[in-house]
Amino acid sequence: MNIRALDLHDDGRNPPASALLETVRRGLRAQPKRLPSWLFYDAHGSALFERICEQPEYYLTRCETALMQAHAGSIADTLGVEVRLVEYGSGSATKTPLLLEHMSAPVSYVPVEISAEPLQESVQRLGLRFPQLPVQPLCGDFTRPLRLPIPPRAPRRTVIYFPGSTIGNFDTRDAVALLRKMRGEMGENGGILIGVDLKKDTATIEAAYNDAAGVTAEFTLNMLTRLNRELGCDFDLDGFRHRAHYNALGGRIETSLVSQRAQKVRMGRSQVAFGEDEAIRVEISCKYSLEDFAALAGKAGLDVLRVWLDPRQMFSVQYLVRAGSVAR
Ligand code: TRP
Repeated sequence: MNIRALDLHDDGRNPPASALLETVRRGLRAQPKRLPSWLFYDAHGSALFERICEQPEYYLTRCETALMQAHAGSIADTLGVEVRLVEYGSGSATKTPLLLEHMSAPVSYVPVEISAEPLQESVQRLGLRFPQLPVQPLCGDFTRPLRLPIPPRAPRRTVIYFPGSTIGNFDTRDAVALLRKMRGEMGENGGILIGVDLKKDTATIEAAYNDAAGVTAEFTLNMLTRLNRELGCDFDLDGFRHRAHYNALGGRIETSLVSQRAQKVRMGRSQVAFGEDEAIRVEISCKYSLEDFAALAGKAGLDVLRVWLDPRQMFSVQYLVRAGSVAR
């Protein structure tokens, strides 16, 4: 298969520089300052994220992959035959083959990814591995309403695959809204296959976001490099540091970029002032108990039909359907 940039359905929502400037300016004028986490995923950020997944402290990817390897057969059986699989934030889609390999006569695979490079690369790789499978990539932001490409034949059901505990990167309100949006997109008898990181001791969780090799720090700081490049800002990369702290009460990791001194940074025609130790919030990663997550799904009108766990019960993959749609 020969994939060119034009073959990707761009949903036209990748913001132009002026919109980007407006988003960033608004975030940095807010109190506390914040930046949206999709800014992480330029080409370099996406590559750094792949390296995070390989760090010894970052247990999430290893646990989820092991879990998928152990249970792919039973997961695929639960999804059923002739499924259209839509993956939100597919990145380099490393876990997807584990699932596709066991799925029976899938109708199509629709990876949705904001970063064009890993999307094209994964489409090419999956095309070689699964030559019979129609792949219909969509380059864009999965939090926006999606216009899914028309499938080559009618699927029995649409399943939205959302691995990596990316749902944890949304606060309760936004997570419920996103699950509701998925509930609409999957239709009446669709389903959601979702990776959810579980609550556990603080040290293990904090270490995952503060790897000793400093890859996560490089990843968060890359956001500032991106703003320097795309918006002509002049962030001094030595003037900010990565911080990730587990807020036990909120059950979440809070990742920030912290200004090391009082300083001013150019932002278009104006400047933004930072105090010493002032933080820019860049990400949250919520951790759930199984009960917490079932309650969250319930708020979005969804039931948890099945849960798969890794042997140490660090991580879960869960299958959600519309509430009341299956007699149990
Ligand atoms: N979904 C991932 C997570 O919450 C994303 C992630 C991993 C991340 N490491 C990060 C986001 C560090 C920001 C900073 O675990």
